[in-house]
Amino acid sequence: MSEPFLIGDTMTGGYGNGPDILHECTIAVDRGEIAVIVGPNGAGKSTAMRAVFGMLNVRQGAVRLNGEDITALSPQDRVVKGMGFVPQTHNIFTSMTVEENLEMGAFIRTDDISGTMEQVYELFPILREKRHQAAGELSGGQRQQVAVGRALMTKPTVLMLDEPTAGVSPIVMDELFDRIIEVARTGISILMVEQNARQALEIADKGYVLVQGRNAHTGSGKDLLADSEVRRSFLGG
Ligand SMILES: Nc1ncnc2c1ncn2[C@@H]1O[C@H](COP(=O)(O)OP(=O)(O)O)[C@@H](O)[C@H]1O
Ligand SMILES: [Mg+2]
Repeated sequence: MSEPFLIGDTMTGGYGNGPDILHECTIAVDRGEIAVIVGPNGAGKSTAMRAVFGMLNVRQGAVRLNGEDITALSPQDRVVKGMGFVPQTHNIFTSMTVEENLEMGAFIRTDDISGTMEQVYELFPILREKRHQAAGELSGGQRQQVAVGRALMTKPTVLMLDEPTAGVSPIVMDELFDRIIEVARTGISILMVEQNARQALEIADKGYVLVQGRNAHTGSGKDLLADSEVRRSFLGG
């Protein structure tokens, strides 16, 4: 078996000097695939994402990207290595325009960003229309597009999304999932946390159910959707 493109391997750790929140938790995604993390509130899904992105004290275990041990790298250094992260909250600059948000996203780049901005506008046409509006004036779904677009501006090889469809209608959720699939088809790996577990697992190559900071179930999205225990406990039957 070959090593996944990105793996948080048996991670144990917590915040500051506090207790461990993650217990030998493993999360991985392959090139161009979609991996989805689901589980109850407080299970440690966001914490696992922060651990993979370098925002948590990983006391045991390791994070590797394309075979390289990046456990000691800062989040900024991970961005340089090709990781993009959209946090669950506060993921846009509300008082800046849409276009300024995208420009901010490209902060590590010194080359011409206009081509990437064009790709973001092609992926999310509404953002082109609203590019001179303050991002805070947009609808919830449009703000999430800004957040995803901002992360894409660094031309990441892996995109991490923490609840990208939080608070949006089912129609907008479907639309966002379609765009995320489109991003994955360009070869970018997607690692995302989702509350809409059933719908997310339907588009997942790999799924992780976390419970109390541990891996409770792991499998293809299809397998997890068919697993009676997963269905009963986490998908409402
Ligand atoms: N910044 C933080 N500092 C300390 N504890 C935190 C912090 N963020 C989350 N926690 C704790 O970590 C646990 C997992 O939270 P979280 O990862 O946010 O869960 P989920 O994303 O699955 O809802 C919870 O007990 C929560 O209280
Ligand atoms: Mg969370």
